[in-house]
Amino acid sequence: MIRRGGLVAFPTETVYGLGANALDANAVKKIFEAKGRPPDNPLIVHVSSVEEAKALVLEWPDLADRLADKFWPGPLTLVMKKRDLPNEVTAGLPTVAVRFPAHPIALTLIRLSGMPIAAPSANLSGRPSPTTAEHVIQDLWGRIDYILDGGSTPFGVESTILDITKRPCVLLRPGPIAPEDLERVVGRLALSRAALGEEVEVAEAPGMKYRHYSPKARLVLVKEGVERMAEVVKSEIEKGLRVGILTCDEHANMYKAGVVISLGKLSNPYSIAHNLFTSLRKFDELGVEVIVAEEFPQKGILFAVNNRLRKAASEII
Ligand code: TXA
Ligand code: MG
Repeated sequence: MIRRGGLVAFPTETVYGLGANALDANAVKKIFEAKGRPPDNPLIVHVSSVEEAKALVLEWPDLADRLADKFWPGPLTLVMKKRDLPNEVTAGLPTVAVRFPAHPIALTLIRLSGMPIAAPSANLSGRPSPTTAEHVIQDLWGRIDYILDGGSTPFGVESTILDITKRPCVLLRPGPIAPEDLERVVGRLALSRAALGEEVEVAEAPGMKYRHYSPKARLVLVKEGVERMAEVVKSEIEKGLRVGILTCDEHANMYKAGVVISLGKLSNPYSIAHNLFTSLRKFDELGVEVIVAEEFPQKGILFAVNNRLRKAASEII
């Protein structure tokens, strides 16, 4: 199906991707149509070896070798100067985002197809990223050719994106590979405003200017601690709204009313990331009108969780 120019959703270790032949402009256009994705938002190109990655770029810096040695295959995407790829893939940019995933189904798909695969997350544009085949069905049924069901994806948040064309390197999107781990390889990092979760008009990472990860309910993110959060929950309930509460095991029993979803133990931050997008979708299914979410400590993979919550939020307190 990939060779014939079709669309195949597949699991990676982060989230499900919606793949097409990265070398076929028409196939790539279909991705944008299926997702309703703005054409100025470029795609990540997925490869199954370092050699394949090198073939996509003009220069392969030493830094790329060091990062690949340490983090590939895995949830790190590198932005480098592109060689010839269809403009549709890179939205006309001089750079390309390259990722060598670790998931066996993703790797097998790329290898058997015999070509690099362009793939955004397999959700409708603006919706939370899919972490199960069921989520892909919810968003894209009837719009794509195949779904490879590999169960739920381990990390549950999208890859870390690092621009290595700049000095210092720029973290464009936090993900499972923590900034502190990257700094051990590349030295000091610059954080893009998008990585910090701020609204950006002119995007450093083009996709970052769009509203993201949005459940249907309005999401209020509370940075000011759990006591403040309890107050916000109370006042939303008093408005007569059906309130969802997104929290962790350590704080879940503070809430006596509302629909409480715990993402997991703070002491196991990976579980919190793993459950994030499923939980946002669950609130929609439960008909929640407003989600009050807790901000987590800004470290490791929780930095990525907070980033997704900020982008989904219509209000930050
Ligand atoms: O974990 C992941 O990265 C998943 C799986 C499927 O691999 N993919 C994913 O793709 O999250 P997507 O399209 O949802 O997010 C890719 C992000 C977008 O924000 C896009 O703007 C940015 O990567 N991007 C792509 N090419 C870029 C480039 N050349 N320069 C800067 N940002 C780029
Ligand atoms: Mg996406």
